[in-house]
Amino acid sequence: MNIDKYKDMQFETRAIKSGEGVDPTTHAVNTPIYLTTTYGYETTKDFEKVLVDAMDWVDGAYLYSRTTNPTTEALEFKIASLEKAESSTVTPCGMAAISVALLSNLNQGDHCIVSNDIFIVTRSLFEDVLPSKGIETDIINIIDLDSIKNAIKPNTKVIYLESCSNPRLELADIESISKIAKEHSLILIVDNTFLSPYLLKPIELGADIVIHSGTKFVVGHGDGLLGLISGTKKMMDRAKYYSDNLGTHISPFNSWLSLRSVKTLNLRLDRQCSNAMKIAEFLESRPEVDKVYYPGLKSHDQHDLAKKILTNGYGSMVTFHLKGGYEEMAKFVDNVSIPPIGTSLGDVVTLIHPKHAEGDLIRLSVGCENVDDLINDLLKAFQQI
Ligand SMILES: Cc1ncc(COP(=O)(O)O)c(C=O)c1O
Repeated sequence: MNIDKYKDMQFETRAIKSGEGVDPTTHAVNTPIYLTTTYGYETTKDFEKVLVDAMDWVDGAYLYSRTTNPTTEALEFKIASLEKAESSTVTPCGMAAISVALLSNLNQGDHCIVSNDIFIVTRSLFEDVLPSKGIETDIINIIDLDSIKNAIKPNTKVIYLESCSNPRLELADIESISKIAKEHSLILIVDNTFLSPYLLKPIELGADIVIHSGTKFVVGHGDGLLGLISGTKKMMDRAKYYSDNLGTHISPFNSWLSLRSVKTLNLRLDRQCSNAMKIAEFLESRPEVDKVYYPGLKSHDQHDLAKKILTNGYGSMVTFHLKGGYEEMAKFVDNVSIPPIGTSLGDVVTLIHPKHAEGDLIRLSVGCENVDDLINDLLKAFQQI
């Protein structure tokens, strides 16, 4: 089951085929939702073998659904294939993936170097939760490689960053940072949520562990939470052990929802990236706009890096500042009618997020609607400021 017959095929084929096949008992083409908590065996010997194998994370050793479930396992195989990783594990949300990735690699007294532009809840994990358990953190600007080198201490274990940061869309030079990590035997953990494995595969660039809020692009329809962790089999077996102990297991229904959604990840992202590029160009042409952040624009500080590392597009996240202050931002956002004002991102529906804390930044998560309709909608909102 875990032999990926499709591993040498293209992303689109792997998104559909890897980890799945005709169900051996029913011949169902789609992976069933195995809504079972436990699994029954005929003999003590068979049961004992499963007990031992399940604790060794042997594929297909089904003991209890906190530990393994066939629907979840199919998703894990598919994600490993898409990430080009030896192994993957999934969790009920992105924060659980981050927690498991960190707790399985950091102990009391360890030190962790963290990027300063990261998701606000991840930041509070590093600033509050981990230090309260005796794990030291230093928050630095990871764009400046020297500041990473200068932050390394004898007890440093982990470098943590977002491949494309939330909210300023700064790109990390993963290849160069992974060299620094390897020189000092540090573990490089990359949150690749804003890009997805279709646009960037951090493991190929030298990252040790990749995590995602799969809630965003992987699920893509705003109807399920999901977390993903990928890396070497050894690291993922340890992550699974932590997940089993911490109880961060996903429901089989959400695994199934994710299996269904990820099959169209590339189709959705092709449209989202092309819509986002046109919207970023439109925004940059508007007199009301002060600055647009989008890696596909020549004006983006790291456009050359974006061209080098991003496959298939520059992402669907566009952030921008208007020239006016908070009142103008609120007026603009309130007059946009297609995208709802809301948090989250990566969905087929375009979402708009005013970010007061970030100096009145507006964040658009561009969806799959018709791009002319979206641009006309934004135009009308500009005309009403
Ligand atoms: C970059 C990033 N990482 C992690 C998370 C957390 O994911 P979840 O909401 O699935 O727990 C988010 C949520 O917005 C995010 O933007």
